[in-house]
Amino acid sequence: MGLSVEFLLSEDHQSIDGLYDEYLSEKRLNPARALELYQKYKLSLLRHIKCEEDLIFPVLAQLPDEPCFQEVSILRDEHQIIVPLLMEVERDLKERNDSSATERKLFEELHEHNAREEMRVYGPLDRLLNEGQKQAVADALKSQRLFPKAG
Ligand SMILES: [Fe+2]
Ligand SMILES: [Fe+2]
Repeated sequence: MGLSVEFLLSEDHQSIDGLYDEYLSEKRLNPARALELYQKYKLSLLRHIKCEEDLIFPVLAQLPDEPCFQEVSILRDEHQIIVPLLMEVERDLKERNDSSATERKLFEELHEHNAREEMRVYGPLDRLLNEGQKQAVADALKSQRLFPKAG
């Protein structure tokens, strides 16, 4: 059986969500370490986004007959909203401002974005990418994952 990039990318969403939850609980229990955890979360989300933009969207952009072709520009636009929000929360934390309003915006944007990817884009990828392209995604996610799951 070949690689499933649908599985790998969805799993990466979950692992990044897990880092966000760790950040939120640290913020409550040990605010002095919250920034550090937030930065780990930010890095892994930026790397996930980079993997999509470098390795997945360019392939889909060449397939105008596929329904997911139309999602590419929407997803790129959403990345352009998510990345500044990621930076804004970090700035709030560094300046010790209340970051919760920006966090809520980030969470809502990201939640909708991830759902769109999982419902409309990740599914067909295993059919649309060749083995070499899938392997490149797998390698990128593996090398970029900051906290590999045990086992
Ligand atoms: Fe994305
Ligand atoms: Fe994604």
